[in-house]
Amino acid sequence: MEHIGLLDVHHLTVGYPDGGRVLQDISLHIHEGEIVCVIGESGCGKSTLLNAILQMPGRLHITEGEILFRGRNLRTLPREEVRRLRGTGMGMVFQEPGASMDPIRKIGAQFYETMRAHAPISRREAMGQAEDLLARLDLQDTRRILGSYPVELSGGQKQRVAIALAMALRPDILLADEPTSALDVTVQAQIVEELMRLRDDFGTALLVVTHNMGVVSRMADKVAVMYGGRIVEYGYRHDVMTAPAHPYTRALMDAIPRPDGTPPKAIPGVRTKKEFDYPCPFLDRCPYAHPACRTEKAEKIPIHGEHWTLCNAGFKGGAAS
Ligand SMILES: Nc1ncnc2c1ncn2[C@@H]1O[C@H](COP(=O)(O)OP(=O)(O)O)[C@@H](O)[C@H]1O
Ligand SMILES: [Mg+2]
Repeated sequence: MEHIGLLDVHHLTVGYPDGGRVLQDISLHIHEGEIVCVIGESGCGKSTLLNAILQMPGRLHITEGEILFRGRNLRTLPREEVRRLRGTGMGMVFQEPGASMDPIRKIGAQFYETMRAHAPISRREAMGQAEDLLARLDLQDTRRILGSYPVELSGGQKQRVAIALAMALRPDILLADEPTSALDVTVQAQIVEELMRLRDDFGTALLVVTHNMGVVSRMADKVAVMYGGRIVEYGYRHDVMTAPAHPYTRALMDAIPRPDGTPPKAIPGVRTKKEFDYPCPFLDRCPYAHPACRTEKAEKIPIHGEHWTLCNAGFKGGAAS
């Protein structure tokens, strides 16, 4: 297996115990300090992907593929090692601000316990580090926050605290599941900037799951577009956004509200549960589908550099011939 980066996902397939699939053949490579965004509509499998990477697939099963962290295979690593990697290697931020916090413990105590569980540290030093992290996330009055319970904070403050807690052990990568979706738009924009600053300050790589193209266009180095449990397009943000090669990516771009007031175009049709039986997950909704798309399995088609798409139609921005 090539590509030893920070986090390498190779041909990951995740499904139900009865064999039904939720993710199919997902490959993704993240290097040190890189920001990769995964975009796709609700239900396409974004959270499942993050949970699988963290080895917490819940009721689902990882049936195929490998997940390597610095070359170490998380599927075969002892559970204790994986647990230690969560926090020190990989930090996690959830959509719901506060999801990762204990509602009945003060914020300061939560920092102290997180840090102490990893290495000996005095309470005073832990509080100093926590205040520094909170300040980097543009929180003022950091001492008062450390003395507060989660319920005493606003949504934006809570999410910043959650990000700081995820950074407490200086992980190499933060996995963030729609970290701004539950927040007001102005706060969303600030948190995107603050996440990017963590990369600048600490070299932290970010894997950010979102359904918001605005988040992708602001922060992504690379983007993975997901549809129906598969990555249908992947590449540098600029390549994907200026020359979207997959009909679904193109539809996502058309769905962005325009500054000139042109109404965004909706993506016709709805997702069905049958995509996994189709050779191409987007088949039912694709305006460019041709007869071969019903018979030939969609394969990775390189465009240039690291940009590729999963589209048999050889979609190049116009209708398929
Ligand atoms: N623990 C689970 N048990 C059963 N089905 C699940 C579970 N987690 C996710 N799914 C199903 O997997 C699909 C992908 O879900 P999810 O990863 O949450 O999508 P997204 O985060 O992109 O909205 C959905 O059809 C969802 O119903
Ligand atoms: Mg989700």
